[in-house]
Amino acid sequence: MPPPRSRRRVRPPGAPCPAPDLLARAQLPPVPGTLLIPLAARALGGRYFPWLECGDAVAARLWAQLGADATATLDDLPTVLNVLWRTQALKAAGRAFFAEHPQALGVNLGCGLTHHFQWLDTGANHWLDADLPAVMALREALLSPRCPRQRHAQVDLTQLGWWQRLGLAQGAAAQPVLVLCEGVLMYLQPAQVQAVLAEFAEHAPPGSRLLLDAVTRQAVGRARVHASLASTGAEFHWGVGRMAELAGAHPRLTLLREQSVSECYGWAGLALDAFTRPWLGAPLYGLATLGVED
Ligand SMILES: C[S@@+](CC[C@H](N)C(=O)[O-])C[C@H]1O[C@@H](n2cnc3c(N)ncnc32)[C@H](O)[C@@H]1O
Repeated sequence: MPPPRSRRRVRPPGAPCPAPDLLARAQLPPVPGTLLIPLAARALGGRYFPWLECGDAVAARLWAQLGADATATLDDLPTVLNVLWRTQALKAAGRAFFAEHPQALGVNLGCGLTHHFQWLDTGANHWLDADLPAVMALREALLSPRCPRQRHAQVDLTQLGWWQRLGLAQGAAAQPVLVLCEGVLMYLQPAQVQAVLAEFAEHAPPGSRLLLDAVTRQAVGRARVHASLASTGAEFHWGVGRMAELAGAHPRLTLLREQSVSECYGWAGLALDAFTRPWLGAPLYGLATLGVED
């Protein structure tokens, strides 16, 4: 059970002083403002789902520093579980990718206040966190890069040409790139998502991977049923009918793996997935790994 509301702002001993004015000054619009939901989940969610605890010390510090209220997120434990599950899955996929390509670049598109490099730094690889300008201004104030192999950039994924504007490598001779895009695409229009996938496919060097999460198409227009999202004003505009359709955005794309959050629920989840799949066509919430090869 979630703790009483009065306990949800408790600051751990030794935590930095709260700076709630940072959030107020950031004046994040509805969709960028949703970054607080996964941040709260990574910072606090392990108490509800200890087997998925991600040990995100950075999120815990930021959460204490922002002095935000986690009530709405913690009233929506399925979303907390989704975030912790995807964090675990992305961490594992990232580690596998960098074990093969220890000097490659990882890119987090729509990064919010994530800090995946805390887990994926090989000592020789590179990392780029990119998001809309308002988010990057907040991120710069809280999480400016501390290592020369790490950088920040502004990006608007709805504007074509972002691969080149971010200065990402292309061409058959370049190192593969790992691209993460979590909790982002469901807020874009379907045509914009197709364009993001096509841009990745068009430019990414062979061997590159794009890991993204997706909701079922049945969730489109229904963000308000999630307690965490209801008050933000953000809406789901894109969902999948079948994970396989993602590869249809470009001939170079292959769907290498699809995962469903139902795997978290053991046999009951797998049974529910099998039961709903003929109707939904895709997981209620899942992850896709897309690859490009020549
Ligand atoms: C739910 S938050 C997820 C943040 C982060 N990926 C995480 O998991 O903590 C959604 C993020 O998508 C970003 N976003 C939404 N539309 C975007 C766009 N057109 N270009 C780049 N980022 C975008 C928002 O600014 C926000 O940081």
